[in-house]
Formats: sequence, structure tokens, C-alpha cells
Amino acid sequence: MERFVSPSSDTDVSFNVSTSLAPPRINKLPGTTSITFDGSLKEPLFLKEDLKNGCGGQLWPAGMVLAKYILHRYPSELSDKSIVELGAGGGLVGLAVARGCKIGAPIHITDQQPMFSLMNDNIKLNHLESMVTASILNWGEPIPEHIPSKPEVILAADCVYFEPAFPLLIATLQDLLGPDSVCYFCYKRRRRADLRFMKMAKKTFDVVEVRDDPDAQSYNRENISLLTIRVKSPRHMRRVQPGREQDGT
Ligand SMILES: C[S@@+](CC[C@H](N)C(=O)[O-])C[C@H]1O[C@@H](n2cnc3c(N)ncnc32)[C@H](O)[C@@H]1O
Repeated sequence: MERFVSPSSDTDVSFNVSTSLAPPRINKLPGTTSITFDGSLKEPLFLKEDLKNGCGGQLWPAGMVLAKYILHRYPSELSDKSIVELGAGGGLVGLAVARGCKIGAPIHITDQQPMFSLMNDNIKLNHLESMVTASILNWGEPIPEHIPSKPEVILAADCVYFEPAFPLLIATLQDLLGPDSVCYFCYKRRRRADLRFMKMAKKTFDVVEVRDDPDAQSYNRENISLLTIRVKSPRHMRRVQPGREQDGT
């Protein structure tokens, strides 16, 4: 049997908000981690982590939160949805969703070129070749043709940390979000500048805090927020949408 070695843990990384959301260690050594999201996955997900090609080469706290939320909230509701992940790093969120949720079409996990081989390694490691496709998608650049142009679900975790990239990410969300799209967007506020991204996002889109996650209280304490982002609905439509949550910020 193959043995997986991880410097951080060679067994399951059970997701526990207070401990797992600690700031990532600097100089983390390459290794492979096994994750079940507190038993949400019957078959664990294996994630190769390697920071040699960039910060996406390790698991990030908002990715853990987003993956766990989708696994719990949408175990079988995504089967007719097209799904694209932005800034996927090693593919944590998209791979978890592919493993634990019923999906009908392959999930497109995307990132910049340096992450491409790691995404593919992790797809193979988990035997998810038929359910997940890795692609290069640079924010602010045209969406590659093979990626659904207006996917119904967009996943983005821990993509707010580098200010010059904020307008690029906004532009990509504008390109991808159609009238029937929703982006599940999880981010950790680390510095004041990160709020500038949220300001830009709220000017451009309908941004609403997710309120049905039982874990929210604990990760909110760690400055992690889980939001939905949609195209702005016309004013008159907003008035006739009963029960629609309002911008919680
Ligand atoms: C902090 S990591 C998060 C990785 C993963 N989503 C997670 O939660 O574990 C942010 C990711 O965004 C990607 N990224 C940063 N700038 C980007 C850009 N301009 N275009 C596409 N991806 C970008 C990085 O390569 C990195 O993999």
C-alpha cells in the first residue's frame, strides 16, 4: 500500500476551526495530507502540498471552510450545474466537491501556470481525472474557450491577499458571472487593504453573507467570511424578492 507522508500530519486533518485556521506555517515542507473534513468524506482526499511554485501550493484556511460548507450544504444539488474554481492552488475545494458531492459534469479548477502541475498531480492522486479538469486562468485575461462562459457555480477561496490583483479578480468575476451564476467566495481578512477588495466587489456585484453555515461563528472569529456574489439585480427586482438576505456588512 502506498504510504503518504506529510510533515504536518500523516493522518487525517480533521477540520477544527480553532486549530486548523491558525496562520499557515512559513517554510512548510512538501508532503501529502489526507483530509476528510471531519468525516464528511467517506474516502479521504489526498492533497500534495508544495510551495516551490507559489503560495497556492498549500492548504489555506478559507479553502477548508468553503469546501466543508459546500460538502454539507450541497451534497446532491450540484448535479446539473457547471462549476469553475478560481485560484484553486492545489485544487483543495474543487477536488473535495468532486469527491463528496454529486456532480454531473467535470469541475474546472483553475489557477496560474505555476500551479498547473500541482493541480494535475492532485487530480491523479485522487483518481478524479474524469470529474475534474485543471486549466490555466489568469484573472483579468480572457476566459479560455473550453471553460464554461457563464458557469452556474463559481468557487473562490482565499483569493484576497495581493492588492494589485484585486481589479483583475473583479474583472474575471464580471466575465464569468451570468444572471444564473453564484460565486461562493470565502476569504480571510488579514490586513486593512483586503477590505478594499470587498468595497470594490460590493460596488460591482450583489454581495451577501452566507447565513446558513453552523460553523460561521467560529470562523468569523478568525476573520474568515463566506459570501455569495451575484450580478447586481435591477432595483425593481430586488424589491419583489421576498426573503432575500440583504448585504450583511
Ligand atoms: C492563497 S492561495 C489559495 C489556494 C486555494 N484556493 C486554497 O484555498 O487552498 C491563492 C491562489 O490564487 C492564485 N492567484 C493569485 N493571483 C492570481 C491571478 N492573477 N490569476 C489567477 N490565479 C491567481 C494563486 O496562484 C494561488 O494559488
